[in-house]
This record gives sequence, structure tokens and C-alpha cells, in this order.
Amino acid sequence: MSRGDAPLGETGETGEAGQTGQTGQVGQVEHAEQADHVLQPEQAAGTVPSSEVQRLLRPDLRGRTAYGAPQLDVAVRLNTNENSYPVPAHVVEAILAALGDELDGLNRYPDRDFTELRKSLTAYLEKQSGVSVTPEQVWAGNGSNEVLSHVVQAFGGPGRTALGFTPSYSMHPIISETLGTRWVDGLRGTGAPDTFDLTADSAAEQARAHRPSIVFLCSPNNPTGTALPFEVIGAVLDAAPDAIVVVDEAYAEFARPGTRSALTLLAEHPRLVVTRTMSKAFAFAGGRLGYLVASAELVDVLRLVRLPYHLSSPTQTIARVALDHADDMLATVEVIKHQRDRIVEVLARLGATPVASDSNFVLFGGLADEKATWQALLDAGVLVRDVGIAHHLRVTAGDPDETTAFLEAMTRLAPDHVRSHPAEPAHPAPAASRAHRSVTHLPAEGTQP
Ligand SMILES: Cc1ncc(COP(=O)(O)O)c(C=O)c1O
Repeated sequence: MSRGDAPLGETGETGEAGQTGQTGQVGQVEHAEQADHVLQPEQAAGTVPSSEVQRLLRPDLRGRTAYGAPQLDVAVRLNTNENSYPVPAHVVEAILAALGDELDGLNRYPDRDFTELRKSLTAYLEKQSGVSVTPEQVWAGNGSNEVLSHVVQAFGGPGRTALGFTPSYSMHPIISETLGTRWVDGLRGTGAPDTFDLTADSAAEQARAHRPSIVFLCSPNNPTGTALPFEVIGAVLDAAPDAIVVVDEAYAEFARPGTRSALTLLAEHPRLVVTRTMSKAFAFAGGRLGYLVASAELVDVLRLVRLPYHLSSPTQTIARVALDHADDMLATVEVIKHQRDRIVEVLARLGATPVASDSNFVLFGGLADEKATWQALLDAGVLVRDVGIAHHLRVTAGDPDETTAFLEAMTRLAPDHVRSHPAEPAHPAPAASRAHRSVTHLPAEGTQP
């Protein structure tokens, strides 16, 4: 199987590094996939439309590639940061029972304000983070992408700017631009090649310079994996007084001990939005339930832009039942974190440069040719993600068997694929000790912050 076999519209391996936007400012990230597949809006606007549909399409959308990682039929799928473990059988039974009770009510529209689900989310958040919020502060959608789009619909739009710090989650620019918001790719790192850190000073300076209406922060950040220094959030709120500041915490449950959530800042900041999802730690990606927490006033205005009845009754029900079983749904988080740390350790011993991670995935560099390694791994039955950063790939931490399959494949490939492969290759079997907390990349300090 090759990269070309991906379904139509899903050829982009790109993903998280950012496939759109004003890349001129991004010093350190090579938008390799972008250069190959995605025309910049100004280029696209100048091209001759190839069909009637292209002629009628908004000029800024012509030539763009749809977001999407390949969904390939491969034994080991570690490319979309899902939880590899299935929903526990007794939770499946509880979901089926709850659905059975309500299916004859499908002639009616669902509760537009998903009142019970909001209560369940509130209870979960208090338990998980210790932060107490009211149901009026919680908003939900079909995945956190949808709640992000509600924020952009309400606070972005023509004449307004959204700022993010690349490489980060590529849907932030896509949602912004497709909703008519100008996107600015902010700089991450200190200017040295392959640095992905973001300091409070740098983030604040960029926020002041671009005067955004929305700032996207992502912590833990996808695709780099590391949580932001907490002070970045406050610095951006201060530096961008006219901005809604979104902290995307899709991977919060995987963060290492001591990582503080932006939820703890909500009481003081009515412009702060924290988004989360049940797609990752909760092992519920197919359930499509994402949510955000903000001030009650901010949440209230999102009702202006959502489509009526956007959350179906079955969606509300299955999410509520899953939240009722939160401990069981989250039971695999520690196992996954252990596999993640094992990946960091073994890849470092192979001479690659894995980034220490607070997520359920690891970004690793040091590859001679990331596309060749991506294909070689696929040929070995392991699907990982090419996020469009030169010499890097991203791998999701799977269950122990999947992780072993990936590490064994990498161990075989390393002599030819890893630039500084040591003479004595590592064996993937031993369990990992913990990655360093304070170092973003291991082991090569200096090349990675
Ligand atoms: C940082 C980040 N935010 C949001 C999402 C969207 O998740 P969902 O729409 O499934 O909730 C993802 C998915 O990969 C992500 O990585």
C-alpha cells in the first residue's frame, strides 16, 4: 500500500503541522505536504478554474486539500491519536439499554440545550480537574472541532484575525479560514531549527503584534505532544485584550503529573475558552462528543451560531452513559501513558529525537527521510502520521502489542532510516523509565529544546 492509496480527499498526511495559512512567518517548519498539495489562497485565486464547480467555488477554497489522515486497512493503526482500547463490554451494554429506552422518541427533536449532558460533563470535569463549573458554562458539539467552529463563527469572521503557533493542530487554521477569518501562523521555537517550544514572552509579543480576535493555544500541543508552560496562557490573555483565547486541551487527561489545566483560570477570565473531547482518553472518538468550558455569557452567545438541535438524542444519550462510567472509560489511560514513555525511551536509544509527551502520541525526529520511513513502516503493517515536518513523524501510543510492533519495526529500520543511529541498537522490549519533565526533546538537547 502506498500513500497514493488513501481515499479521495484524504490524501493529506499533513495534518497537524498546519496545511494552510501564511507560512512565510514560520521559520522552522517545512510545510512539506503543503508545498506539494495545497495552493495558497492567493495562488488559487489566480488559477484558471478547471471545472464549472471550481469556477463557482469560493476562490479562497480552490485548490485546497480536505483535512484527513488516511483511513487504511492496516493491522496497526497509530496515526490518529485514538485510544486503541474498545469501550468496555458493560458500558456497551449500558449504552444499548439507554438507547433502547429512547428510540421510540426519535420522532421528536432532541433537547436543544442538552441539559442533562451538560450536568454530566460538569460532574466529570470537577472530578477530573478539581475545577467546579456550572452547566451554563459548558457547551458541547459533535467533536471538539464543532465547538471550535462555533467559537470562530461567533468571534471570528471577515475582517478579523485568528493567531495560532505552528506546528499545532491544523484544524485551527482550517476552521478559521473556511469561516472567513484571516489566519496568522505564529512562531513557535527560538529560531533554531527543529525547536517547538513557546515561551510566554514570545507568545505575548506575537499576540500584541497581530491584534487577533481569537488566539489558539494547544496544550498538550498536537503534534509536538508537550504541554505549554502554564504562564503562556496568562501572558496571551494580557497581551491580546480584544481576543478570545482558546486553549485546546484535547489530550489533557494524558498530561504528566503537575501539568495545570487552563480550567483553573476560568473564574478570572471571561475571554478564556477551554476545549476538550471524549475522542482521546475517553476512548469515544466514534461517539463524536467534544465540549468547551467558558464564562456563562460566552457560552450563551454560541447559541446564536449553532444549528438547531445540533446534538442528536442518541449522541446525548451515549455520551451521558459513557460519562456515568468515566472511571471505566478512562481505565486505560495509565497503560497508554506507559506505552508513550516507552516509545520515547526506545526511540531515543535508536538515535531518533523523540519529543517528551503529555499526550497519547510521540513526535520524533532525526529521520533521514520521513516519507521513506512512513512508507517502510506501512509496509511493515504499521500506520503512523506524517505531519508535514521535515525529518519527523508522529506515532500514537497503542496497546502494548501495537506499540511493540511499531518499536520492533523501527528497530529494524533504524540503521538505514535514523540519521544518528548508534552502533549498538536498542531493543524495544524493556519497559521505559520516565522521560525528563523539563526537556522538550530527548535526548539531543541543543537540537531540540
Ligand atoms: C488538538 C486537537 N484538538 C481537537 C481535536 C478534535 O477532536 P474531536 O473533534 O474528535 O473532538 C483533535 C483531534 O485529533 C486534536 O488533536
